[in-house]
Amino acid sequence: MSSSSEKVQTRSQRSKWIIIGSVIGLLGLIAIGVGVGVGVSKNNSKNSSKTSSDTANGATSNSSSNGNPVQSDPNDPSTFEKDPNLHQSFYALAYTPAGSQLPNCTNSLEDVIEDIQVMSQLTKTVRLYGADCNQSALVLEAIKQTKVDMQVYLANYPTPDDSTAYTRQRDEIKAAIQTYGTDHIAGVTVGNEFMLNYLDANGATDPNSAIGAQGAAILIADINDTRSTLSEMNLSKTLPVGNSDAGSYFNTQVLEAVDYGMANVHPWFANVTVQTAAAWTAEFFEETNVQPAALLPNTPKMYIAETGWPTFSSDAGNANNGASDASEANLQIFLDTFVCQANQNGTGYFFFEFKDEPWKDAEFGGVEGWWGLFHSNRTLKRIQLPNCVLN
Ligand SMILES: *[C@@H]1O[C@H](CO)[C@@H](O)[C@H](O)[C@H]1NC(C)=O
Ligand SMILES: *[C@@H]1O[C@H](CO)[C@@H](O)[C@H](O)[C@H]1NC(C)=O
Ligand SMILES: *[C@@H]1O[C@H](CO)[C@@H](O)[C@H](O)[C@H]1NC(C)=O
Ligand SMILES: *[C@@H]1O[C@H](CO)[C@@H](O)[C@H](O)[C@H]1NC(C)=O
Ligand SMILES: *[C@@H]1O[C@H](CO)[C@@H](O)[C@H](O)[C@H]1NC(C)=O
Ligand SMILES: *[C@@H]1O[C@H](CO)[C@@H](O)[C@H](O)[C@H]1NC(C)=O
Ligand SMILES: *[C@@H]1O[C@H](CO)[C@@H](O)[C@H](O)[C@H]1NC(C)=O
Ligand SMILES: *[C@@H]1O[C@H](CO)[C@@H](O)[C@H](O)[C@H]1NC(C)=O
Repeated sequence: MSSSSEKVQTRSQRSKWIIIGSVIGLLGLIAIGVGVGVGVSKNNSKNSSKTSSDTANGATSNSSSNGNPVQSDPNDPSTFEKDPNLHQSFYALAYTPAGSQLPNCTNSLEDVIEDIQVMSQLTKTVRLYGADCNQSALVLEAIKQTKVDMQVYLANYPTPDDSTAYTRQRDEIKAAIQTYGTDHIAGVTVGNEFMLNYLDANGATDPNSAIGAQGAAILIADINDTRSTLSEMNLSKTLPVGNSDAGSYFNTQVLEAVDYGMANVHPWFANVTVQTAAAWTAEFFEETNVQPAALLPNTPKMYIAETGWPTFSSDAGNANNGASDASEANLQIFLDTFVCQANQNGTGYFFFEFKDEPWKDAEFGGVEGWWGLFHSNRTLKRIQLPNCVLN
């Protein structure tokens, strides 16, 4: 394994602990995380012409780069004001509604509506990571009320050591489909870093080893069960079923069981410079994911499930990856070198991520909570968003 893929693994291993840890002390942690967030970045109050960066710095307009969109009819979420500084240039975004981790679900429809109002000005597609805390229904209800042209990949986040996690989320997804129909659902993703977690828990690293095959059998049973569930709803031809994992952790039989695969590809954790990050991401994804998938009989469509650049670290030790800093300036470089180029190349990617996640920072520190294009309060960071509108 190259050092690059080891770092991709590291990122993913942290993600596992994020999820497991999320069950502990969530409410208090969010409060702490918000406190940390507020101390991090001061907006200056420059107030001049209306370019993206001026708005990001200056907080002059009352539209979405400045927090919560204004509705001309307060009772109709579809009447939100569009922000001229936002452009529908992203293929897709990675998204988790705040407060969507068990046991204490603190998410709200109001909050998700505001997220959707902002995200719909950046992209037509988002992906979720799991289905706990009613998040599938919340997102679909928000799309309905805002009347935006958006699709969501619903997701089931099974864990190897708890078989009830899969069925619990399957039933939430099923109920959401029954309520909202499929018009705004792009697919159902079963498994997030399942193979990585399984291998890690069993002291292995090769997804196609004997231990990998054991983990794959559990995951494929869940994938098959989701197909059966959709089939009983007469939706097996309507909704594709996929899987997401760290870029180096796809088991071949798992890929043969899905319609699409989503791969985390993180230049930050590969310790490459931000200047080479976009090219590294494109090459890693092509060689590790696209080419192998194209050789399989079912030719699953491959996407980049996560890529991005952190803007801050809560500790000095993670303030850079050995090659470049976590900073808004470097996020800007990655945006400028990746987004429009990937669009032109026809790469399907989910930019990581929509907004900062204070609970991750409170739980894990380092850069984990600081990958958003927006602060957790939906104020745009000091960045200029790419303008290469996708059709
Ligand atoms: C969840 O909420 C319950 C009831 O309010 C509380 O007793 C418990 O400590 C909370 N757990 C966490 C992890 O926040
Ligand atoms: C949003 O959060 C950022 C970062 O903590 C802060 O600088 C900004 O003032 C906040 N904006 C609003 C409108 O609260
Ligand atoms: C702010 O909101 C008010 C009330 O909805 C509106 O009249 C005004 O045009 C908005 N200003 C900007 C800069 O968007
Ligand atoms: C889930 O969210 C939807 C949309 O807001 C709501 O209608 C439904 O009551 C919620 N279900 C639960 C169990 O909270
Ligand atoms: C999953 O479904 C495929 C196709 O029907 C089948 O060949 C395979 O044996 C099933 N695997 C498991 C683990 O259920
Ligand atoms: C699925 O299609 C079959 C055959 O057309 C029909 O009998 C059945 O009621 C449908 N089931 C659902 C859940 O729509
Ligand atoms: C990557 O960078 C991190 C942070 O500086 C460092 O801890 C780690 O050892 C580096 N890994 C490699 C393989 O260079
Ligand atoms: C786009 O494709 C070119 C040519 O293959 C490649 O050099 C570049 O790295 C790709 N960039 C992205 C962001 O996909």
